[in-house]
Amino acid sequence: MKPAIVVVGSLNMDFVVGVEHLPAPGETVLGRNFQMFPGGKGANQAVAAAKLGGNSVAVRMIGRVGYDVFADHLKASLSAAGVDVGAVHATKSQATGVALIWVDRGGQNSIVVASGANGELAAADVEAMRPVFRGARLALFQLETPLSTVAGALALARQEGLETMLDPAPAQPLPAELLAKVDILTPNESEALRLLGRPAARVSPSAAIEMAEALRWLGPKAVIIKLGDEGCLAHDGVAPRHVPAFPVEVKDTTAAGDTFNAALAVALAEGAPLEHALRFANAAAAISVTRLGAQASAPARREVDAFLERHPASA
Ligand code: RIB
Repeated sequence: MKPAIVVVGSLNMDFVVGVEHLPAPGETVLGRNFQMFPGGKGANQAVAAAKLGGNSVAVRMIGRVGYDVFADHLKASLSAAGVDVGAVHATKSQATGVALIWVDRGGQNSIVVASGANGELAAADVEAMRPVFRGARLALFQLETPLSTVAGALALARQEGLETMLDPAPAQPLPAELLAKVDILTPNESEALRLLGRPAARVSPSAAIEMAEALRWLGPKAVIIKLGDEGCLAHDGVAPRHVPAFPVEVKDTTAAGDTFNAALAVALAEGAPLEHALRFANAAAAISVTRLGAQASAPARREVDAFLERHPASA
């Protein structure tokens, strides 16, 4: 039987506008084009994991949508990638989540999420879906559902013997009890600084070593800090490892972190060593930033394998 990955998280319809530069407070900017894409950090990770691990890994999603046309689109996108959506339920009290996204010419973005139904996913709902976790290998979490739900689901995943991976996005401080239930923590640099209560700054790979150590003291067994065009810094208590990014032409960084997490989870679920899993994740994220959209930008497995063949480790 294939190892399974369970994703607990958000589903959003993304409304994306290309802009010359991101608007400053009080500024109106004229956008170029408008497009809608299936998104949401949870659904993005589920779709990317299914695209990357289609033949080797099964993916199950737990989430909440409303009774509307966006819900149908989002569930269809998950199903088309091969994700089991049996635990994505609809609520009458809220509309499906949406995200308003501006993407500038350099591919950087600003995102505002209206959580809607994602905010209705309660810890008790996840508890009722305990069978979804049974026999699975890894559970993936982010922070676009209520914190009490994430905490309860992390505990449940641990009880069922799954390894837990938390993407602490959007950035926010987290209680020690929650971090203690995380096996692999994957912040980007600003999320890592926020978790440590430090001011915003650009983080070099060498500075990230100390931050990863400090984050490991909070409970996670392994910390992987995503450093954008600097790659990633991993610390699992054995030795810190910096894995450089692949140079690519950036079009849109939306969901690059989601694709990274999904690829990491797939490689680990397949039993790959951490070093290999990190290169695989960097490659998947590199391909994703060359394309527009969230789930639309996640590569297929054959694309990542071909990319890695063109970029051998020694090159
Ligand atoms: O990580 C990218 C995602 O953040 C977008 O798809 C948007 O929906 C927000 O959740």
